[in-house]
Amino acid sequence: MPRMGTVQKEKYKTHHNVFDDFTDRNLYKLMNQGFIDGLQGPLSTGKEGNVFIAKKDGEKRIVKIYRLQTCDYNKMFTHIRTDMRYATLKNQRRDVIFAWAHREFRNLLKAREAFVRVPTPYTILFNVLIMEFIGDESAAPMLKDAKPDNPKTFFDEVILQMKKMYKAGLVHGDLSGFNILNQDEKPVFIDMSQTTTLENPNAKEFLERDVHNICKLFTKWGVKADEATTLKKIKG
Ligand SMILES: Nc1ncnc2c1ncn2[C@@H]1O[C@H](COP(=O)(O)OP(=O)(O)OP(=O)(O)O)[C@@H](O)[C@H]1O
Ligand SMILES: [Mg+2]
Repeated sequence: MPRMGTVQKEKYKTHHNVFDDFTDRNLYKLMNQGFIDGLQGPLSTGKEGNVFIAKKDGEKRIVKIYRLQTCDYNKMFTHIRTDMRYATLKNQRRDVIFAWAHREFRNLLKAREAFVRVPTPYTILFNVLIMEFIGDESAAPMLKDAKPDNPKTFFDEVILQMKKMYKAGLVHGDLSGFNILNQDEKPVFIDMSQTTTLENPNAKEFLERDVHNICKLFTKWGVKADEATTLKKIKG
């Protein structure tokens, strides 16, 4: 029997040289800390981050890695600086990216504490976020690709999650059919790096945009989704 460390390294080897050295080291640290046994494969490549499926004791986990190089950190900085929690942040590439990743972690945690349906965040290490895998054999589909069996019931569930977030002082800020998963006919909110607190001067605009996107999506599916009424419900 090889030692555990060797086994982990073997599993991990397939993905070596894919990441920069810093990210590589962080992934090793997270393996040594027991958060993951190794990466299984890529799930999605986004604007700022790459999402991987990892394994831990035979179970799947999600590893979201914020890229250090190919991201628009100036845009991130403009976006995050109005969040009072990051008011002292300086416009330095790495610091901005770490803050961006960290913000997603703490938003998920806060939402989770408010019983919003989100993946449980496990840990954050600089640009690497580890969270619960939503799905079973495969990942739960994005809502845009998985029209609910009962759109009205699903819509009400989405509004309930938004309401819980609002009550907890949070606005998602990028809510759409891309960032809601349909897990067995129940919504799960993901992608919370741009989620901000209600003190943010842009919070009102973000909330209205979220409501607009959600109402538009569900109207397409035949739900009577009025924006003003929905907004009132969320704030109510
Ligand atoms: N916890 C999760 N469980 C299952 N699938 C997930 C999970 N997190 C993310 N995914 C999948 O990966 C995709 C990308 O994740 P996410 O939306 O968080 O990042 P992104 O859109 O690439 O981020 P950004 O737009 O900030 O670059 C999602 O659309 C979803 O399909
Ligand atoms: Mg997304």
